[in-house]
Amino acid sequence: MSKTNINIAVLPGDGIGPEIMSEALRVFDAVKEKSKFTFTLEHGLIGGAAYDSCKSHFPEETRKLVNKSDVVLFGAVGGPVDKQQDEKWKGCEVNSILALRKELKLFANIRPVSISEKMIDISPLKLNPNKLPDLVIVRELLGDIYFGEKKRFFEGDLQVAEDICRYDSEQIEKIAHFAFSLARTRRKNVSSVDKANVLETSRLWREVVSKVSLEYPDVTLQHILVDNCAMQLITKPEAFDVVLCPNLFGDILSDAAAVIPGSLGVLASASKGAENKYLFEPPSGSAPDIAGMNIANPVGMISCVSMMFSVVFGENHISEMIKKAIDSVFDSGIFTKDLSNMARSKIVSTSQFVDEVLKKLK
Ligand code: IPM
Ligand code: MG
Repeated sequence: MSKTNINIAVLPGDGIGPEIMSEALRVFDAVKEKSKFTFTLEHGLIGGAAYDSCKSHFPEETRKLVNKSDVVLFGAVGGPVDKQQDEKWKGCEVNSILALRKELKLFANIRPVSISEKMIDISPLKLNPNKLPDLVIVRELLGDIYFGEKKRFFEGDLQVAEDICRYDSEQIEKIAHFAFSLARTRRKNVSSVDKANVLETSRLWREVVSKVSLEYPDVTLQHILVDNCAMQLITKPEAFDVVLCPNLFGDILSDAAAVIPGSLGVLASASKGAENKYLFEPPSGSAPDIAGMNIANPVGMISCVSMMFSVVFGENHISEMIKKAIDSVFDSGIFTKDLSNMARSKIVSTSQFVDEVLKKLK
């Protein structure tokens, strides 16, 4: 970043979004003085929350806000499963988060999954302390079945639905370069996920990724079928470094990989767009069933703040400080309810967990 004041758009959204956002901002406030940048935060409406006040899931005002901002901090959108047909929730995700990804041309989504040695007990998996998983899912975010044409029609009496799955070589090249460059900063290993034994888009994916890999002779590439990858992520997660995925497979595999740290609530993600725009969102979703109860895990959203400092500003020391604070709260046996299967653990509320993080930061 060449400028010194950073504009951050804060979009809490729905469900647990507002509570994890306000808690994560307490952590942001506690560390921001350590940055060489100054920050201007502006809140905006998105999702069902926006629909309530202006009958749109992505109002014009929010569109303007995200376009003038350098960074977007995004909570979650979406309503309860049994209310999807209500006006407020119909098409909410497509109209808000997917539209936002398109608006900011957020083509690359990075979802890191790791676990420190001290936290190994939290994982439901039997992990080897000498070979801990440390992987990054790189998910293409603007193509695939998510953005292809959608149709509903009748063939005689039969109702039919279609979602077109589409990729072009340029989209694949772009995300492949992103993944190989990232691998160069890590263990130089890319696993490219596809379903090339069935899908034409996957065969193109495989061809293009192989071609791009020739420009990175120092990085090892393996192609892996998505079903096999799902199994191996759980049985030998330590074998993966950068996992390069088309949009839909990346969505599914990132939830599967959440088994490694033990809860989806602890994961964070960063999306990179055109003109160096970034959006940070926890992949956990809006969890309407526990919204407003002060029991949601704030770690994913706090980790988004942590990632923002390293990814956007190169301030790894601030990012590490936050990570260490979270780890040491876990280490003292304090967890939110989603991780309550831990023996000898003390279960605290969302805000109490953040109180503890703030104590460690002091
Ligand atoms: C995610 C979410 C979104 C997605 C939904 C809310 C549209 O599941 O970010 O993983 O599918 O991309
Ligand atoms: Mg998802």
